[in-house]
Amino acid sequence: MRINTPEIIVCEDPAEIAERAAKAFVKLAGEFMKSRGRFTAALSGGKTPEGLYRLLSSEKYGKEIDWSGVEFFWGDERCVPPTHPESNFFNAKKTLLDRLEIPEKNIHRIKGELLKTASEEYETELKNFFGLRRGEAPAFDLIILGMGADGHTASLFPRTSVLKEEKKITAAVYVERLKSLRVTLTPPVIKRAANIILLVSGREKSDALYNVLQGPFTPERLPVQITFLAEGTSTWFVDKEAARKL
Ligand code: 6PG
Repeated sequence: MRINTPEIIVCEDPAEIAERAAKAFVKLAGEFMKSRGRFTAALSGGKTPEGLYRLLSSEKYGKEIDWSGVEFFWGDERCVPPTHPESNFFNAKKTLLDRLEIPEKNIHRIKGELLKTASEEYETELKNFFGLRRGEAPAFDLIILGMGADGHTASLFPRTSVLKEEKKITAAVYVERLKSLRVTLTPPVIKRAANIILLVSGREKSDALYNVLQGPFTPERLPVQITFLAEGTSTWFVDKEAARKL
């Protein structure tokens, strides 16, 4: 098992995280559009990436990418309607998709409102889009992730059975602490990503970030460490508050 620790870029504040991550996104999108004519990106939920999404859809970056070739997916979703403020799709729609007028066909949201069948529906969408063979995980060009103060990423939470998933590419998980039913990409998909961009901001994340980066490799306790097993590049943009214990 090859453990690759990520490239850590310490930023002054959330604005610099957004700026540096936007530049990285634009560079990757340009490279994949040039070589493949498309760019598959799985977006993160949560609050941290909102600055990045707004910047990508701003005057400054909006014209840097041929968005018609960018295919949007999600790393996870809450099982709520797509108009619900808790929906990761709803927030990305507001901060990114609507501002760029992304065509419907390029948006592959997780239909959280389907509840128990949402995970299977997303799995089918992934299998069809990527033309997956049986047992094959999709290789996203980019997966954007965040990290919770407990070391979770996507909806891969500490000490949950989905962390041991080696075959399925999506899973439905009930997060007791948050009383939230969710759908998440599984570890095999995270590991196959060609590139991971991970954003961490805020003092409340500093203990977890220290343990994740400088403590032992215990992904069942700190699931974001699963990204250390990724086959591709992994770049973490963290602000000084989050990095204060490093
Ligand atoms: C979600 C995310 C989740 C998020 C972390 C950090 O659906 O909430 O996928 O993994 O990235 O919880 O969230 P913040 O960016 O809001 O701190």
